[in-house]
Amino acid sequence: MTREEQLNVLSAHQLSEHTLDFLNSIKFKKYDKESRDKFKRMAYINNSPEMMKKIMDAKYEMGFCETYVLQSIPFSSQKARCLAELNQERKSVRRFGNDPINLNQVSAFFNLFYTVTGQEEFDFKGVSLTQMKRNIASGGSLYPTEIYFVNHRITELPLGVYHYNVFTFSLELIRALPTAAEWDFFYEIIMKADSSSIDFDQASAFVIFSSVFNKQSFKYQDFGVALSLVEVGEFIHAAYLALAALELRGCAFGGFLSKEMHQFLALKNSLHQPLFCMAIGDQLK
Ligand SMILES: Cc1cc2nc3c(=O)[nH]c(=O)nc-3n(C[C@H](O)[C@H](O)[C@H](O)COP(=O)(O)O)c2cc1C
Repeated sequence: MTREEQLNVLSAHQLSEHTLDFLNSIKFKKYDKESRDKFKRMAYINNSPEMMKKIMDAKYEMGFCETYVLQSIPFSSQKARCLAELNQERKSVRRFGNDPINLNQVSAFFNLFYTVTGQEEFDFKGVSLTQMKRNIASGGSLYPTEIYFVNHRITELPLGVYHYNVFTFSLELIRALPTAAEWDFFYEIIMKADSSSIDFDQASAFVIFSSVFNKQSFKYQDFGVALSLVEVGEFIHAAYLALAALELRGCAFGGFLSKEMHQFLALKNSLHQPLFCMAIGDQLK
């Protein structure tokens, strides 16, 4: 690699046209709402008991092969028992209690969901490096995922949209949303409707999972997109486990207008894509 290439390496995304097309094709667009292909297909499947039965019954079949049944041995360590309990508790809940969660609960959520867990100093070929350890693994330690938070009902914080800073453990207010018109724009983005499976009105807040794709693709090219999407999955799972640990409720969803969400979060880079969202709130009492 030439010196000039080295200098440009961080800014060049290195994605092929196919992959850029793919990233565009997975965005929900305004016109998709009326299209037969996307939402009508999903709504049909969601409303069809026959289809739902097929989905619930579907199992990966290996055909004939020798089988060794694994043993369910009681866990000997407290940590293993805790994880087993969290796994039991983790679920998607689409209805929330009337009262919004409070700032302590939000803080505890972020502390468990995505956090710096330590710092490691090491020498790499004579260069001293510091790695901030986090509870989430990341291909190449590049961490393309960025987390946003929309405060919908929490009274101790201004209502509005925030960026979560994992290093300073703080929420950075991007824009307060004091007016009903601004919330209407957000509801339009998340396609809130009477028929929505998730009770958006009662949700205390929304967590938005976004990825800066060029952060991994500059190194791994197209494969970087696979790494980035996998990582967002890790984050979603970590959020589910954090909610389970705190006896809070939530449900992930992917149906939102991508371009409008990009604008709503004030993202600057076109390869910084909002991918999933999670409505969170208190349990029904
Ligand atoms: C990435 C992702 C997107 C999801 N999108 C939706 C959604 O749009 N609407 C919804 O009601 N549930 C959504 N879910 C929740 C799934 O339906 C749920 O995880 C699945 O039914 C299994 O149920 P459980 O999470 O309670 O175990 C989503 C879950 C994930 C992980």
